Amino acid sequence: MKIAIGSDHAGYELKRAVYAWLREHGHEAEDMGTYSEDSVDYPDYARKVAEAVARGEYEQGVLLCGTGIGVSISANKIPGIRAALACNPEFASLARQHNNANIICFPARFTDRETVGKSLEKWFAADFEGGRHERRVAKIEP
Ligand code: RB5
Repeated sequence: MKIAIGSDHAGYELKRAVYAWLREHGHEAEDMGTYSEDSVDYPDYARKVAEAVARGEYEQGVLLCGTGIGVSISANKIPGIRAALACNPEFASLARQHNNANIICFPARFTDRETVGKSLEKWFAADFEGGRHERRVAKIEP
């Protein structure tokens, strides 16, 4: 799958691990920054990834910041984006199954590589269930 990933400085280190995980698991990942631990503004990277996913250039996205909250709020401003904060593997599968989320957001300061790896496994294994969720997801768009 073609995946765009991005983070601010707080998510930088874990983003590198996510990038490696994605490639090890056969995905075509593009790292859209940031590229160091120098302080940056998370909306800039969230927008980059979200706009690329919304344009259809990537099938899904991964975003990280300290809490995952800033990047999810920012990404969800882009029409067509459903960015979900995944605090554990169950959140990751439910975000796909019920919300048809197209960007997964991780709280880099409150998680670890193992949890993120398991969450990504669940994310990629899960599909949108449709049915009653279809109607609800359709109501999200303005
Ligand atoms: C950066 O210090 C921090 O505010 C940011 O990574 C994120 O947690 C914002 O939601």
